[in-house]
Amino acid sequence: MKKLIFILSLACCLNMSGQKFNNLALTPPMGWNSWNKFACNIDEKIIRETADAMVSSGLKDAGYEYLVIDDCWHGQRDSLGFIHPDPKRFPSGIKALSEYVHSKGLKFGIYSCAGNKTCGGHPGGRGHEYQDAITYAQWGVDYLKYDWCNTDELNAKEAYKTMRDALYAAKRPVVFSLCEWGDNKPWLWGAEIGHLWRTTGDITASWNGSISHGEVWNSWSILTIIDLQKDLRKYAGPGHWNDPDMLEVGNGMTTNEDRAHFSMWAMLAAPLIAGNDVCHMSKETTDILTNKEIIAVDQDPLGIQCFKFTTLEDANIDVYVKPLKNDELAVCFLNRSDNAVNIVFNWKKENIDDPISQKNFNFNKNVYLLRDLWTKMDLGNTNDIFKSALSGHNAIMLRLKKK
Ligand code: GLA
Repeated sequence: MKKLIFILSLACCLNMSGQKFNNLALTPPMGWNSWNKFACNIDEKIIRETADAMVSSGLKDAGYEYLVIDDCWHGQRDSLGFIHPDPKRFPSGIKALSEYVHSKGLKFGIYSCAGNKTCGGHPGGRGHEYQDAITYAQWGVDYLKYDWCNTDELNAKEAYKTMRDALYAAKRPVVFSLCEWGDNKPWLWGAEIGHLWRTTGDITASWNGSISHGEVWNSWSILTIIDLQKDLRKYAGPGHWNDPDMLEVGNGMTTNEDRAHFSMWAMLAAPLIAGNDVCHMSKETTDILTNKEIIAVDQDPLGIQCFKFTTLEDANIDVYVKPLKNDELAVCFLNRSDNAVNIVFNWKKENIDDPISQKNFNFNKNVYLLRDLWTKMDLGNTNDIFKSALSGHNAIMLRLKKK
């Protein structure tokens, strides 16, 4: 124990500087997190069953790698300040759970908070950063989501840096997810500290608008969150991602809405962290979450976030473009409205120029083949005018490659 106290004081008093773990999250992290479906109603049985279901449902094969326990796993700190899990909900302890998750070929993640208490009122990390980082390393933690409740006047950048340095000092590589909700513009300073940063408040499973939770906070719909990503794309790239929050696929929206939500998260190069009950997934939900061609757009190694290219006249259709490797591109037609529309898009009249990625797509110079990533059908080429019906709250997602 004396040795441990010595190491801890060395770390704190010598103002040990650190860095984030490099070469992690070179494509947007993929996994599952307990919060969106279960909130605080979690226990080790749910987590074990979820690990099993991530494998049997095909999620793991599709690329979902991290299983992350969100808020409310905590018990109390002991007399030396070490954190322990809730003994009733996690009687076997977190290390045993992490070993189980690892035995399934998955990685294990956990949640804490930069403040004195988590958002759910459990012990936060403030003042215990180095001690918690050592505990997490002992437990085999591979991913840490670090929240921003109860932080008083803390400086966000410095608070997250402290935890980053603590994780680095503990020497077990951890993907560090900053859950600061965008309040202090983490896209301006997050790249050197973490691997992803939340850009907005909490997501909710609704298409449009927001839900108020009293005066303190709102949760945001799919369209609201998409609109809030405007202007942020230049800050994201391999190893450092904008995080528009976890997926709500399978949590109550219509199948069209889920499909559009998943399409746009892939276009945004967003972390794909499923947030549904994977033990009881419908076929539609499974098909959406495991659509490998959509996932490949998200996971494209260039890591270029999409931009809104245009809005189609007389229609509520936004056209998003995401440049991909090998001079390919993804194009998403997003129907924001309640009504079905007929899309008519003449490629030859468009010149798609992206000053940020310095990519240009000129359909008069080059002919591209089209593939519909939801119907999995090849649809001819860009010499033809693209025409398609699109129902309300839905999206068409195309991948284009040179003929
Ligand atoms: C905040 C976060 C959520 C979730 C909860 C847990 O609201 O933004 O994603 O982690 O806390 O209490």
